[in-house]
Amino acid sequence: MNKVQLNKDLLEWFRASKRQLPWRETSDPFKIWMSEVMLQQTQVKTVIPYYNHFVRKYPTIDAIANAEEVSLLKDWEGLGYYNRIRNFHFATKEVQAKYNSIVPEEPHEFQSLRGVGPYIEGAVMSIAFNHKIAAVDGNVMRVYSRLHRYGEDISKQKTVKSIKRDIETWMSDDAGDFNEAMMELGATICTPRAPKCILCPLKSHCESFEHNDVLNYPVKAKQKPK
Ligand code: ADE
Repeated sequence: MNKVQLNKDLLEWFRASKRQLPWRETSDPFKIWMSEVMLQQTQVKTVIPYYNHFVRKYPTIDAIANAEEVSLLKDWEGLGYYNRIRNFHFATKEVQAKYNSIVPEEPHEFQSLRGVGPYIEGAVMSIAFNHKIAAVDGNVMRVYSRLHRYGEDISKQKTVKSIKRDIETWMSDDAGDFNEAMMELGATICTPRAPKCILCPLKSHCESFEHNDVLNYPVKAKQKPK
């Protein structure tokens, strides 16, 4: 596979057709982080009004860190997975205490904060600081599996790690755009049941498209535990 051409085709498509989303209007690492916490388990269209409300009411790390947990939980109502906001609240207090309220730019420091797993680390470090770290979510695993006719079970942690490691060997230096482009492709074109392969910028690179068995990928033995 020609990875240089693939990156070029992917990024060209993304730059021309990406959706305008409120967290794409900012370069503030705190806001990017907050958006990714919301987006990790919730669809874009649900997140938009919550994100807009939160950035208005809590525009800085300190605003979240100094807020009462009950108020944050109340504002989070309807988004679900409440541990996300509890962990994020705790993490903003860590940033306040340890890093002078500045989101750490160093992946090892960022990764050590409460609630920051490999996905959030990859998304925030790449989008905010352009670190070459892959952000592997369900959309990305679907795109990857189809591109390579990759048959490993994506509900296994070791598969996620292995996809992340492989992507990091060939992803573009524009790491933030690359990660967002892969997610965007999975969300809008390379969808689970009725992918729009004809419109896909990567169809000439896609092994399952070539073999006409796109729907056989990804392989998923069991529902991923939440
Ligand atoms: N899903 C997860 N992160 C996203 C992002 N930054 N933009 C759009 N959808 C996403």
